[in-house]
Amino acid sequence: MLIELPRHTEIFGSVKIHELQRVIKLDSGGAENPRACDITWEDIKSILKRLAIVVPVKNENLHLLDGVLRAIPFDCTVIIVSNSDRVPQDVHKMEREVITNIHNLSRQEFLCIHQKDPEVGFAFHDVGYDYLLDKSRLVRDGKSEGMIIGMLLAKSLGKDFIGFVDADNYVPGSVREYVLDYAAGFCMSKTPYTMVRLHWRYKPKVVEDRLYFKKWGRVSATTNRYLNLLLSICTGFETEVVLTGNAGEHALTTDLAGIMKYSTGYSVEPYHFVYLFDEFGQRVKEILYPDACNAGVEIFQIETLNPHLHEEKGQSHINDMLLGSLSTVYHSALCNDEVMSELLDDLVDILQSWETPPPNVVMPPIGGIDAVNFAKLLESHAETFTWLHETTVKSEIEEEYLKGESFQAV
Ligand code: GDP
Ligand code: CO
Repeated sequence: MLIELPRHTEIFGSVKIHELQRVIKLDSGGAENPRACDITWEDIKSILKRLAIVVPVKNENLHLLDGVLRAIPFDCTVIIVSNSDRVPQDVHKMEREVITNIHNLSRQEFLCIHQKDPEVGFAFHDVGYDYLLDKSRLVRDGKSEGMIIGMLLAKSLGKDFIGFVDADNYVPGSVREYVLDYAAGFCMSKTPYTMVRLHWRYKPKVVEDRLYFKKWGRVSATTNRYLNLLLSICTGFETEVVLTGNAGEHALTTDLAGIMKYSTGYSVEPYHFVYLFDEFGQRVKEILYPDACNAGVEIFQIETLNPHLHEEKGQSHINDMLLGSLSTVYHSALCNDEVMSELLDDLVDILQSWETPPPNVVMPPIGGIDAVNFAKLLESHAETFTWLHETTVKSEIEEEYLKGESFQAV
């Protein structure tokens, strides 16, 4: 792959945020170029083998899920964490049929679990991590909660890198590119604590019967503006380096995943920045992770070649996302009175009042959890735990498949 070198890197304490890098060519020929980084296919492939892709899914169109799963490069292990309905129709069962079919045809490694499986709640309780459980000891709803399950399973398989891909993407080819972009980011990084975040060049929308290639969504533009403002007021130098505040498509090293805190639901992505600023930025009071502070945390922001076309989920979803994002900024240790009052101006439209935005629930780091034990508990008890890998003995589902009953998306 040929990818632009970052023109500038913002250094904030131990955190390095690289300016946006564009993909020049998805493959390349090794020509010398002082402005670009040429990453060989062999280097990318060696990362893919150590990368797990987590796909959080909640009641998405099965055609879209099918395309997404087929597009993820073969060398990656795919971990699907579903929070889809089980009644009145068992949507999750249909998802498992999609997954099993792709595994049977390709032999790619897949792992699948349902977020609300009571055994997932019990396993979290057993390993001493109750923070994402509700009163009945089930895992709460929320994408972030699903992502935590996925990260632990990736760690249990000994993966060094974890990437996320949404299940509602209309264009399988773009999903393939995202994963290659993640791998390229890890090839360029110089620290075990690295995050790669993707930026869309365009997010196409249908406007008056035509596709319009829109550059910015309202939520992203607002989130990025405030994250940059936090940096600017702290350093005294204005910056616009952050362009990926809401990047659902992102990847991180397992080492970094272990020391992050996670905000609940959709505020998880902007909170990555807020947490890193608060914990590893300038003027930190207490150093909790000296290894990471010494090695540094690197954030790559890569602009994809493919546009991002996904399911549109309506205005109330957009408001929820904006509220979650702005609330993380409001409650950041770096936020001063000036930023707070500017935030309240923006929030009044959503909240219909001048109230302080409610703080998001934040879950502590998962690095201390015995992930192998967690996965073993699920493997032996959870009804929805499925691990399809090379040595899986012929399962009943496979035998059914061999009889010719392959999945047809409905
Ligand atoms: P957006 O693309 O950021 O607007 O958000 P989406 O609504 O598309 O959600 C991103 C991904 O998370 C999709 O694949 C959803 O199906 C999935 N998702 C949403 N809520 C949950 C949840 O509660 N649990 C899990 N496991 N996945 C979820
Ligand atoms: Co989406």
